[in-house]
Amino acid sequence: MFKCELYIKRREELRKKMKTGLALFIGNTEAPLNYPANTYHFRQDSDFLYFFGLDLPGFAGVMDFDSGEDRIFGNDTDIDDIIWMGPQPTVKDLSLKCGVTDTAPLTKLEVTIKDALSKKRKIHFLPPYRGETKMILGSLLKENSCQTKTLASVDLSKAVISMRSIKEKVEIDEIEKALDIAYEMHVTAMKMCKPGVKEQDIFGTIEGIALAKGGGTSFPIILSVSGQTLHNHAHGNILKKGRMMVTDAGAETNLHYASDITRTTPVGGKFSQQQKDIYEIVLKANTDAIKATRPGLSNRDLHLMACKIIASELKALGLMKGDVDEAVVAGAHALFMPHGLGHMMGLDVHDMEALGENFIGYNDEVKRSDQFGLAFLRFALPYKPGHVFTVEPGCYFIPELIEKWKAEGKFKDFINYSKLKAYMSIGGIRIEDDILITEKGHKVLGKPIPKTVKEVEAVCSRH
Ligand code: GLY
Repeated sequence: MFKCELYIKRREELRKKMKTGLALFIGNTEAPLNYPANTYHFRQDSDFLYFFGLDLPGFAGVMDFDSGEDRIFGNDTDIDDIIWMGPQPTVKDLSLKCGVTDTAPLTKLEVTIKDALSKKRKIHFLPPYRGETKMILGSLLKENSCQTKTLASVDLSKAVISMRSIKEKVEIDEIEKALDIAYEMHVTAMKMCKPGVKEQDIFGTIEGIALAKGGGTSFPIILSVSGQTLHNHAHGNILKKGRMMVTDAGAETNLHYASDITRTTPVGGKFSQQQKDIYEIVLKANTDAIKATRPGLSNRDLHLMACKIIASELKALGLMKGDVDEAVVAGAHALFMPHGLGHMMGLDVHDMEALGENFIGYNDEVKRSDQFGLAFLRFALPYKPGHVFTVEPGCYFIPELIEKWKAEGKFKDFINYSKLKAYMSIGGIRIEDDILITEKGHKVLGKPIPKTVKEVEAVCSRH
């Protein structure tokens, strides 16, 4: 946990933003994997962590914005629990660590909420994303559990987003620690990327690093020579020379701050000329976009800038044609880069996504595009100092998409379909870094992970 004062300060700030009503934060419970007592690895709810810091299942927090009182609800362990889990701190002791002096057993939560409902007080809660939380909310609020997401408080969501978007110094330090772990994961994957090695071997090895050094991975590892599948979670291939391996992987620290890095490595450690041609395009989109990042610039403009680099370089290679600006306005480049340039990162790898992507990255003035490609951009607003973002351009050769567009004659003035066949073995290339927006510009977080052709080849040649 961070120091107690930090949680007190955060709740104080939330109180100022919300003014009236109650906020109900339901912490996560244990979730069964294949039978009740065999549970998934426990992950606390990120908002509960942010305001209360307690990293254990079965807690709830209530902030009363009118009285200014905060209370934590949870059950002390009894002798049966102690036999299986060992002695545990009391709810009172735990709550003092985040500056809350008022505690009660979980059964009292129902009484508190019932009382507030009877007085017609506003009960704010954040959108639930787990079945268990929906059930608890439904039961407490006397609502249909399936409806609880739509009943969540927009005011509370927006207030929390405004706070969590701007990272504190201690949070940046944690993200840097998560990047130290990602460095080891990626350098290890590069060194293992040799013909005859199973993807599963590399996947398991780097997942082990994330578990050995921190709280495990920040999302399921994407690692495959079939990098044209953007989120490829199958690791069944055996590496062969001539393929490129995409590794999109990050770690969580023990306090649950994330890193998210992607590197693409030629199997055997040496780029062919063709691999290099496409790799350098993605690298230029990554490095030029990072260089341009500063407060006030919008993530949408940066995304479009990266798309233009990709389109113009693909035109130079003969894979695209026509006017680059027109091609990007029309969305033709999305054949090669169908995803957004990046997303916020913090306690969640896609930070605060549970609170509503459109509240995080869009507003009344900036609306989400419905154009294929641009529609997947998670954040379109201007950057502010304290934001942490990923910058992750890519270039993919997706056979099914190419076939579909070709058959439809889509963007035939911008795409040289006949030239694409020769590039299909590339699969996909993505290069991703994590950056902090500073007062004057940006800082690339973490120790540099090899990414130029020379650096990647040098690491791969080491054993
Ligand atoms: N790095 C995986 C993702 O951003 O979805």
